[in-house]
Amino acid sequence: MVKEFAKEAMAQVQRDLQPNISVPRLGSLGYNVKDLFDSGINHVPEKFVQTATAQEAFIPHNVTSKGLQIPVIDLGGLQDESRRGATLAAIESACQEWGFFQIINYGIPPSLAENTHKLAREFFDLPQEEKEALARDPQNPVSNGYGRQFLTSTNSTEDWQDLFFHHLLPLSIKQKDSWPSKPAAYRETMEEYGAEVLKLTDRLLDVFDELLGLKTGYLRESFGDTMLNVRLNFYAACPEPKRVLGLRAHSDPNVISVLIQDQVGGLQVKKGNQWVNVTPIPGALVVNLGDSIQIASNGRFQSVEHRVVTNQGAARLSLAMFRHPSVDVDIGPAPELVDASHPALYPTISYAAYRASFHRKGVNGKHLLPYAISRP
Ligand code: OGA
Ligand code: NI
Repeated sequence: MVKEFAKEAMAQVQRDLQPNISVPRLGSLGYNVKDLFDSGINHVPEKFVQTATAQEAFIPHNVTSKGLQIPVIDLGGLQDESRRGATLAAIESACQEWGFFQIINYGIPPSLAENTHKLAREFFDLPQEEKEALARDPQNPVSNGYGRQFLTSTNSTEDWQDLFFHHLLPLSIKQKDSWPSKPAAYRETMEEYGAEVLKLTDRLLDVFDELLGLKTGYLRESFGDTMLNVRLNFYAACPEPKRVLGLRAHSDPNVISVLIQDQVGGLQVKKGNQWVNVTPIPGALVVNLGDSIQIASNGRFQSVEHRVVTNQGAARLSLAMFRHPSVDVDIGPAPELVDASHPALYPTISYAAYRASFHRKGVNGKHLLPYAISRP
């Protein structure tokens, strides 16, 4: 069944390609954007092409959007009495207005983040067979390994992206053997970086408690044992950036995501009806809130839609680390944030169920909305 699907997918890509161009090393996955680009195509296969309406809303990866910029926050200010108040206010406003911010002086050596990114980037330069030796289970969107975005029957346009996904926590699903073994330093470096991201997100969650008027430790405790996973997004250069997306618009379902991007650009965040580029800043990390925080904060903090556009000039690699609630907990508005004038905006639901519905629908738009409690 799976083989049939892969065979059909490969046949379709070949039909879509211009005549006279053969795609080398298509491999058992059927296709991958790195080899599609390297094969020298001038047009992307039809299955990657977005609708004309969607294309109208595209903006290039390198424009600055009129006066709008994702906040950049110096977390060093949290340790400096004279700057602490202003730093907290900047975080609060970013969480309320944007759901996204970039951070500098975040307590992780920038060289560690840079090195982890470099090793992840090198994985994608391995021969296709070596990457596919670590292919993930094509039936399971949360299995570790190399592959592509999962498609659903209602959400079947391909993204211009190859990926590697794996867990770091809990240990029961870490499966370190399934992580890249080349480059040789990958596993050890990723573990070291993951431990730092865990500490960083602990700190941020404590700050969120303070901003929301919750007792310190509330968010961490309410989300239970952390699930931490990473997604390496490889966006090949693309011959037709105006017709495809690198990653379709979505909000993240988890608690908080920490992203290392390179200097290529392409990540865009929705602000009202406008898409705003997250301009790369050397050494900065991009932080965004997931649906679970929007729910826990009863809507005071936002999880915002974002997407990635491609470009003709350079491949881009982003390394997104996702901190999730445990699949054993229920997520719901913090009781302290619900009262007569702030009724619960979301029901309390099991995170396992929420995440499963996210994957059933496929990465697509703001998943949380249908869950909001509607009132007459
Ligand atoms: C993600 C994501 C953004 C990027 O992986 O969920 O939003 O820049 N990635 O690749
Ligand atoms: Ni995302």
